[in-house]
Amino acid sequence: MLGLEKFVINGGRPLVGEVTIGGAKNAAVAILPATVLAQGVCVIENLPSISDVNVSLRILAGMGVQISMVDKTTVRIDTTHLQPDAVPDDLCRQMRASYYFLGALLGRFGQAGVAMPGGCNLGPRPIDQHLKAFREMGAESGVENGRISLRAENGLQEAHIFFDMASVGATINAMLAAVRAQGTVILENVAKEPHVVDVANFLNTCGADVRGAGTDVIKIRGTQLMHGCEYSVIPDQIEAGTYMVGAALTGGNVLLRNVIPKHLEPISDKLEAAGASVEVLEDAIRVWRTGDILPVNIKTAPYPGYPTDMQALMGVLLSRAKGTSIITESVWESRFRYVDELARMGANVQVNGKVAVFEGVAELQAAPVRAPDLRAGAAIVMAALAANGVSEVDGIEYIDRGYENIVEKLTGLGADIRRVEFVQNNTVDQVV
Ligand code: EPU
Repeated sequence: MLGLEKFVINGGRPLVGEVTIGGAKNAAVAILPATVLAQGVCVIENLPSISDVNVSLRILAGMGVQISMVDKTTVRIDTTHLQPDAVPDDLCRQMRASYYFLGALLGRFGQAGVAMPGGCNLGPRPIDQHLKAFREMGAESGVENGRISLRAENGLQEAHIFFDMASVGATINAMLAAVRAQGTVILENVAKEPHVVDVANFLNTCGADVRGAGTDVIKIRGTQLMHGCEYSVIPDQIEAGTYMVGAALTGGNVLLRNVIPKHLEPISDKLEAAGASVEVLEDAIRVWRTGDILPVNIKTAPYPGYPTDMQALMGVLLSRAKGTSIITESVWESRFRYVDELARMGANVQVNGKVAVFEGVAELQAAPVRAPDLRAGAAIVMAALAANGVSEVDGIEYIDRGYENIVEKLTGLGADIRRVEFVQNNTVDQVV
């Protein structure tokens, strides 16, 4: 009976107005574990108010780290009394990014033990490349009782690591361990996402020597002491992209503040191809649409390619296009699960393996729908905002992992959306 929530959305209104984008989830959930490496106090600003950040902070607190909120988006973290053996397994299993505690603890203490990570179900999510990097730096790894353990008896050593694919997680995890290595670590075929660069910048602000983040090769000269610092997390590229799609889908006009337009280029480009207008300002971007939604083809790829985390959102937009669009998902195996939900709303989409063909329909209709994972959940919310009638979206705990104040932000743009608690028989109980 407890704790179930859903969104009730009365669709059909254009999103109009201004919205301020929060800090990047996928940078924040790496920078918080990275504070373990700094022997001192870190003050991290522009943290998004999302449940994945909350879980990261609770993992740190569980290890004896002193945490105090300076304000809603700023936290003070003191790792002086950190106990590396006290990593809370249950919390680590709740989120994917808990794997960053492996690299951070290994870097600082030469050993780490962390429960296998959880996270959205996007198909197989191996971490072989993370472990390969740790091993090449001299760590031994093992898995016992659902925990991954790492040990570098003689400290981490210099290494030249070639990744099999550009992995965000493996690149960041290898950086976290390597900043404290005895010698130079070179990482090749790395991920170039903005949050990879942000983590490198944070580490350098703490006294590390990381060069080349944002290119294909990262060179890290190990240092034995890293200090605390003040650091502000970059704005969230995907949260911004979500509201950009919302503006285009609903035929609205939205000014997004606190963004880095450069990070949004792959998203803006496809939105313009789909008939939206995009105006780039210094740290803001405006998106609007007055004409038809046009069909476009998209293939997801590591940055600067089209982000897989935007795929479902673009899918929803293209489900309303005037014509046929093809989306190829090349990063994750199971990222078309939202299509079944979209079909309930009248969309016409055929999925064959990694390829989905969208035959645009004139309208989407309201329906009871479910968020299958974080980004697909946000996409389904956007679909409900554009649909005629009242939709109910459950599974919203996924959405809360990565979108801060989504009800408040959408309401500020003129949407009719409420968060309600419900009991098992689906009767709406109370507005919360
Ligand atoms: N891969 C391997 N072995 C590895 C690591 C990755 O085979 O050791 C494969 C994966 O199976 C996948 C590809 O490499 O096919 C890329 O995976 P990557 O490691 O880049 O993904 P990740 O680090 O687990 C992060 C984001 C995801 C985002 C991807 C891709 C975090 C916490 N998560 O995941 O974000 O989709 O990069 O950009 O940073 C989200 O925010 O909703 C989300 C899922």
